[in-house]
Formats: sequence, C-alpha cells, structure tokens
Amino acid sequence: MFDTHAHIDDEKFDLDREAVISSYLENGGTFLVNASSDLKSSYSSIALAEKYDFIYAAVGVHPHETDKMTDETLEEIAKLWQHKKCVAIGEIGLDFYYDFSDRDTQRFWFQKQLELAKELDAPVVIHDRDAHAECLEAVKKAGVRGVFHCFAGSWEMAEELLKIGFYISFTGAVTFKNARKAVEVAAKAPIDRIMIETDCPYLSPEPLRGRRNEPSNVVWTARKIAEIRGESPEFIIRQTEENGKRLFGI
Ligand code: NI
Repeated sequence: MFDTHAHIDDEKFDLDREAVISSYLENGGTFLVNASSDLKSSYSSIALAEKYDFIYAAVGVHPHETDKMTDETLEEIAKLWQHKKCVAIGEIGLDFYYDFSDRDTQRFWFQKQLELAKELDAPVVIHDRDAHAECLEAVKKAGVRGVFHCFAGSWEMAEELLKIGFYISFTGAVTFKNARKAVEVAAKAPIDRIMIETDCPYLSPEPLRGRRNEPSNVVWTARKIAEIRGESPEFIIRQTEENGKRLFGI
C-alpha cells in the first residue's frame, strides 16, 4: 500500500511521528512519498527519506510559498534532486482558491519549476486548486510527466492529462458526499494510471473526517475506489502501488 503524497514532516506529527509511521507499516504500508511545500520541508523530506528505507522525497515549492522564492531556492532544489531518495519535484502548481501568493508570482515560479523538472527529467507532483485550465496548459507546454495530486477536475480534463501520460491521484476527498466529479474520474480512469494518497495531516477520509489524517488512512481511499470500480480493495491497493513505483522509478 503506497501513500503517494503525505506531509509527515508537519509539526502536527511532532509528538507521535514514530507511532504514526509504525502504524502505517503495521497496516500494510510499503512505500511513502513525502511531498514538500518549501525549501525547509524539502530538507525535512530528504531527512525522513534518509532515516526510513520506505520513504521517498518530492522537493519543491508549493504555490502558497512562491512569494518567498528566489533563484537560489531553485538552485537548491536542483541540488536536492541529486539525492538518491528524491523521486519528484513537488508539490508545485497554482492555487487560485486561497491566493496566498499573488497569481503572477505563482505562475512565474510554477513555470520555472516545470522547466527545471523537464531539464532534470524529473516527474512533477502538481497542486491545482481552482486553476484547472492553466495547470493543464502549463504541463502540456512544459512537456513534463507526473501526477495531478488530489485531483479535482472534470473527466474531460482527466482525459487530456491521460493523453499526455499523466497519472491521477485521489485523496480521502473521494469519500466525501459531494465528490461527484472525483468519483466519475475514479470510475473511468485506466487502472494503470491512478494512485492513492492521504495528503495528511489534511483531508481525513470518511468516516474519520475532521480528525488529523495519517498515512494508514489511505486504505479508506482504496476501499472507496474499489467500491466505485467494483473491484476488491486488495486489487486497488496492489495496482496503485505498482503505478506509484512506475512513475517515481522506485
Ligand atoms: Ni500536499
């Protein structure tokens, strides 16, 4: 079972990180990618990957944090990519829901990080909130490969992404009552192009909504996708693990 997008470096795990990691392994966890949001968390992701065999790192700057980004940050990310446990550039993208960094700043550094990923031949982990058309256009133009994490677009958008080789990843949000679009995409996407993730400590799946999320809860997303597709959870867990390993070169 592969939680392909977690933030276990988050301070919400400071008091019981070891226990959360043990619980994931006891409940069938085999691999985990820790996604980063800025330079500091990129270093934390690498440190976790050095400490635990089954943890891998994605390094990069989240759209929220792009207003603090400089050319030096980009150079540091390029250096971190050389680490043998680093498997992706991310999470990067556009967030036009919160707009914590102004939109032109987000666009500028998203573009720069996409160009870097292309140059390094690294997969990208995309964060897209209320910026579907622009994110799609940007990855197409950059000619990169990767995954749209916590996918929230339409089936039409998913088809465009599948055409250019992208993977689509689902969080616990697919278990929510209003998840009509995600459910449609989870039903129709080819089995070899979907992944599961928690995005913990955020987005706890039903029936755990409202609590802190953790990697072992990724099983609820697998169960929901299994139910949607009429397959067994074991099958979904096995397939999504293979897909994650393929994309991230593990
Ligand atoms: Ni995330």
